[in-house]
Amino acid sequence: MRISTPEIEIAFDDVGGGSPLVLLHGFPHDRTLWTPQLRGLSPRCRVVAPDLRGFGETEARPPYTMDRYADDLALLLDALGIARATIGGLSMGGYIAFAFWRRHRARVRALVLADTRAGADDEEGRAKRREMIRTARERGSSAVAAKMLDSMVGATTKARQPDAIDLLRAMMTRAPVDGVVGALEAMMNRQDSTDLLADIDVPTLVLVGDEDVLTPRAEAELMHRSIPGARLEVIPGAGHVSNLERPAAFASLVSEFMDSLL
Ligand code: MLT
Repeated sequence: MRISTPEIEIAFDDVGGGSPLVLLHGFPHDRTLWTPQLRGLSPRCRVVAPDLRGFGETEARPPYTMDRYADDLALLLDALGIARATIGGLSMGGYIAFAFWRRHRARVRALVLADTRAGADDEEGRAKRREMIRTARERGSSAVAAKMLDSMVGATTKARQPDAIDLLRAMMTRAPVDGVVGALEAMMNRQDSTDLLADIDVPTLVLVGDEDVLTPRAEAELMHRSIPGARLEVIPGAGHVSNLERPAAFASLVSEFMDSLL
């Protein structure tokens, strides 16, 4: 589906009914990351999964910042007539969930923070982003995918799920270079959200794959400790893209969480 907002035309999936749950994909993914959860969660809630600006079928147009991605989401919710939703994000999607909380907190019913972190990039992280931007510009998204794929999935997935890896590689390879570069700049310049955590006063589910090396368990534990009343669930046998690696476990934890909000 596509919808025009005053700022940008956004492509998205919108399935199921009842309490709305937004799922924000990571980098450099698109909304097809959530295909298993659309199936798994739509019997319980209304699942809205957008392609972020510059990814999938949503136009690649600057500016690229976490605030802009968050404001795009607010415009999508306006266009869909959704006043308040549970906002779920994986990795970069989590960074956007924090920006959304900062800018539109009255619209947040609850949060799902999956395989993400609250902190900003340090100088070493920013240098890596600059290097990745060069890679994307000079050699395209397939080179970015080749560099990132190994750390994106866990050892269990590497041993047992070649199809999941192929799917992820294809998704990352087709990401438009402009969107990839824009997202890298947005991540590199994002605010630190650590100070925000203690003020989060909506139900929050923190999820992490126990084999996640990009945003490891310690990051999830920090968010869990700092957000009052947050719940932490560790997904065994999953790496950084835990929703794709253990789709049923991920969907069942989110489904239980959505039920707890009723
Ligand atoms: C993601 O999966 O969104 C990225 O790994 C996040 C990042 O590079 O910080």
